Amino acid sequence: MIPTPHIEAKSKEEIAKTVLMPGDPLRAKFIADTFLEDVVQFNGVRNVLGYTGTYKGRRISVMASGMGMPSIGIYSYELYKFYEVENIIRIGSCGGYTADVNLYDVILAKDAWSESSYAKVQGGYTKDAIEGSKELNDKLKTYADELGIPMHVERIHSSDVFYRETSDEYKEIYSKHGCVAVEMEAFALFHNAKVLGKNAACLLTVSDNLATHEATTSEERQNAFTNMMKIALELAE
Ligand code: ADE
Repeated sequence: MIPTPHIEAKSKEEIAKTVLMPGDPLRAKFIADTFLEDVVQFNGVRNVLGYTGTYKGRRISVMASGMGMPSIGIYSYELYKFYEVENIIRIGSCGGYTADVNLYDVILAKDAWSESSYAKVQGGYTKDAIEGSKELNDKLKTYADELGIPMHVERIHSSDVFYRETSDEYKEIYSKHGCVAVEMEAFALFHNAKVLGKNAACLLTVSDNLATHEATTSEERQNAFTNMMKIALELAE
């Protein structure tokens, strides 16, 4: 089923085995423009930009996921199942749940906890946490060490809701479930990888903190996220 309903690449060869997935299409473009050579755009459907190029001579793709689990659920499923992608690494932003994570810190998601129904509806999975791929995580830890970039390795919360009517629910999600930060995609990505026998990881940069009320501007975020991108780009093959 190529092209798929949401990706217009005409053959699986247009997409590398490893795909980096920022949420924002313009961040995918920024990564391609800033870090990749010999870049070819393979997707523009709904402006969800996707590119393949080389990093230090090794092939890698970068494509946006959009925001939220339904969106990353669609794109990651089509990449894994129909384009035979093996590895997807989400590279996104998150909100800290504790003062132990500072703005711009990098977090590798050991696992994603969620109250979302995504995994249950998609494949009958009823537990509330899913791990990232150990193999990818081990590699990402090595690359972060080699690059001298400090990285937290922790459980994160994947939420379906950005604006909640109750403002301090996060305190219980931190104390009861051990989630140090919140984002909105990893649980669905990890689930799709699990059901399809593929690999997934999630690297996050802290863009705001619910405990300390600190926040970055969208302009600051564009450039400050390069540490996380450099770690992930080392996965190019
Ligand atoms: N991504 C970045 N900050 C976030 C927050 N506060 N909640 C959910 N996702 C986020």
